[in-house]
Amino acid sequence: NKGNYEHYMQKEIHEQPESLKTTMRGRLIRGGSCKAKTVLLGGLKDHLKTIRRSRRIVFIGCGTSYNAALAARPILEELSGIPVTMEIASDLLDRQGPIYREDTAVFVSQSGETADTLLALEYALDNGALCVGITNTVGSAIARHTHCGVHINAGCEIGVASTKAYTSQIVVMAMLALAIGGDTISNQARREAIIDGLFDLPNKVREVLKLDQEMKDLASLLIAEQSLLVFGRGYNYATSLEGALKVKEVALMHSEGILAGEMKHGPLALVDETLPIVVIATRDTCFSKQQSVIQQLHARKGRLIVVCSKGDAAAVSSGGSCRVIEVPQVEDCLQPVVNIIPLQLLAYHLTVLRGFNVDQPRNLAKSVTTQ
Ligand code: UD1
Ligand code: M6R
Repeated sequence: NKGNYEHYMQKEIHEQPESLKTTMRGRLIRGGSCKAKTVLLGGLKDHLKTIRRSRRIVFIGCGTSYNAALAARPILEELSGIPVTMEIASDLLDRQGPIYREDTAVFVSQSGETADTLLALEYALDNGALCVGITNTVGSAIARHTHCGVHINAGCEIGVASTKAYTSQIVVMAMLALAIGGDTISNQARREAIIDGLFDLPNKVREVLKLDQEMKDLASLLIAEQSLLVFGRGYNYATSLEGALKVKEVALMHSEGILAGEMKHGPLALVDETLPIVVIATRDTCFSKQQSVIQQLHARKGRLIVVCSKGDAAAVSSGGSCRVIEVPQVEDCLQPVVNIIPLQLLAYHLTVLRGFNVDQPRNLAKSVTTQ
């Protein structure tokens, strides 16, 4: 049921304040005055000790689910102190890459039925790793075959392009980082700031959804373009990959997410006055580096669209003209949840304006059950 919306993708984008609340329901505890704020993931509580003892955490997934894990990687590394590596399921299988008994392998999948991810799960089980699932589908193959896991509880997602599942996956993995990370005095303030940030996230998402018309206006300017680049780094490297994936899969426009730190190693050659480039430059420890990327793109007369924190429009547009999209600032590790939303809206409006099928893009299926 699409309710008052024209398409499922549109409904699912606008549903995110509610889906995020459902994802967090019963799992965040804001103790009394002397009780610390904590996270409770029922499906993992008996396995946390084993996870903490593992030598490595390996995230495994495909498409958007891989991108969500990439967004959560920095906070998991920071809070757990355990090395975190990333695997695209098909690539792990192609290489028959090493997976050990001392590993915790985390399988991220909205549907829980993706063939590559399931085969990678069988492979990791054979190799003796502790296998953890993060899925939206109770009773799915991945939920059944993993040793333990977390349901993201985002509600049924119908649009082929994953939107609300992506933001709920990131939130679950941020909670996973809090659950694995020890509750030491030294990181208490950081943990509390993240938990407070999680409580307030649905409000911030509601606020950023007000950019709908602005993103529609931007889409109308980009409607006839051949290509769109998206530059990000740090917490928002994932945002660049996921934003580009949305644009290519539904709007059928070539789009590439690029790690900004790699700009001078090739992509800079593409920059001219015509190619549109989105730069994610919200406030975090990478901000000054992103400012310098923007300066260098300005110097080559790049056609920039900058996503920045509220109040930073002047700071990012000095040195050249660009279109600025201001988003609310949240705790750095949660910023990818806010930052992807204008790009989801852009992909949606671009698709509708270009006259393509937004809920069922050509050649794609919601659940990829063949290799
Ligand atoms: C569970 C109940 C929820 C109830 C809550 C009350 C289910 C599905 N969930 O939620 O309805 O409100 O207790 O405390 O009945 N699992 C995997 N692999 C996965 C995902 C999950 O093995 O990929 C396992 C978990 O380890 C757990 C079970 O499935 O044993 C349920 O997981 P989850 O729904 O996340 O647990 P709770 O949040 O505790
Ligand atoms: O159900 P899964 O999360 O395992 O699906 C993985 C990918 O097939 C999926 O995310 C795909 O990339 C989406 N169509 C992206 O919007």
